[in-house]
Amino acid sequence: MLGTIFRMAEDLIKVVGTKEEIYQGLLPQIKALVIEEADVIANLANTCAALKEAFGFFWVGFYMVKNDELVLAPFQGPIACTRIQKGKGVCGKSWALGETIIVDDVEKFEGHIACSSLSKSEIVIPLLQKGIVIGVLDIDSTTISAFDSIDSNYLNDLCIWLSERI
Ligand code: SME
Repeated sequence: MLGTIFRMAEDLIKVVGTKEEIYQGLLPQIKALVIEEADVIANLANTCAALKEAFGFFWVGFYMVKNDELVLAPFQGPIACTRIQKGKGVCGKSWALGETIIVDDVEKFEGHIACSSLSKSEIVIPLLQKGIVIGVLDIDSTTISAFDSIDSNYLNDLCIWLSERI
């Protein structure tokens, strides 16, 4: 059809560099995507996809609080457990504490819920609205000690920003 302009699918501009540089290049792109769209599921889904694409994490996903349980929400990666009780696993503990948890070696975390034996380390960041946890962002890596304060700082910034918009 001559003269028709097709809007191409969104593409991430790939950032190459240190972990910090990747976050610095990626977060504004995620925020620009989210700000254009009002649908929560679409925004959480694209956030997972962008993080997975940029860093190659094994699993990236959200669990949202529903009827006093965390329930699996948009994610990227292998299938995962669908419901987590408060205080259980890394996700349930982050929910109970309202704090970010970094686990260097999941085998050493008492009560860790193993959705895949390939997952070796993990970071969980709570989504807070007025001090109440409404969900968590969970990221798993196949390498030990994959996450540190750089991840925690940038992902917290992202989750605070997202929480204000969902
Ligand atoms: N390992 C998590 C469960 C979720 S999966 O990693 C996707 C936990 O212990 O809460």
